[in-house]
Amino acid sequence: MKNVKVSPSILSADFNDLRKEIKSIEEAGAEYLHFDVMDGHFVDNISFGIPVLKSIAKTHKMINDVHIMISEPKRYAKRFLDAGADILTFHYEAVKNDEEVFEIIDIIHKEGKLAGISIKPNTPTDVVYKFLGELDLVLVMSVEPGFGGQAFMRNALNKISALRKYIDENKLECLIEVDGGINEETAKECRDMGVDILVAGSYIFKADNYKKQIEALRK
Ligand code: DX5
Ligand code: ZN
Repeated sequence: MKNVKVSPSILSADFNDLRKEIKSIEEAGAEYLHFDVMDGHFVDNISFGIPVLKSIAKTHKMINDVHIMISEPKRYAKRFLDAGADILTFHYEAVKNDEEVFEIIDIIHKEGKLAGISIKPNTPTDVVYKFLGELDLVLVMSVEPGFGGQAFMRNALNKISALRKYIDENKLECLIEVDGGINEETAKECRDMGVDILVAGSYIFKADNYKKQIEALRK
């Protein structure tokens, strides 16, 4: 069984002590840092953006896993890449048409970075199949995007399983990431469906011992 990677979402971190929080999750063994950008338009919340990413991106060795929950992702993609995104994941529901999806993937690949697409809980997996050959990552949302601390939506499990099947049958490289309501129980269910990367915010940051939480997601 491959070992799943963990991407703590700093949306749930203590922003009054961000340097310490980033150092702690890195020491706790996280391979990725999940950076949740919310614009108050595509989602009903506003989080943080380019200046914050710029200030933290090079202060650690984890992969900057940037999840942009914003309208007009094509307009902002390059600025997030320049600010330090290693993976830039935009929302299928935020683009105008299929052609624009390929355009954004090209913008990301031109900078030598990894391109991800995210689908909300009510978006069916088959809308992204046509892009998977070009994509490096597909992010299955197991909550409605906008907030940490929500309950896991179980329909994510068959979406992960369908994507796993499609990616394996077509011998594609695309990674599968799941995001929202991930804890020890839901992490196991997602691992059993073949997920590659687990995003977790509140499950990790609500605890004192980040290493114990991260290891509990992997076992
Ligand atoms: C929600 C974000 C998630 C969220 C995860 O819109 O994309 O990354 O921060 O937080 P938890 O793990 O607490 O659901
Ligand atoms: Zn996220």
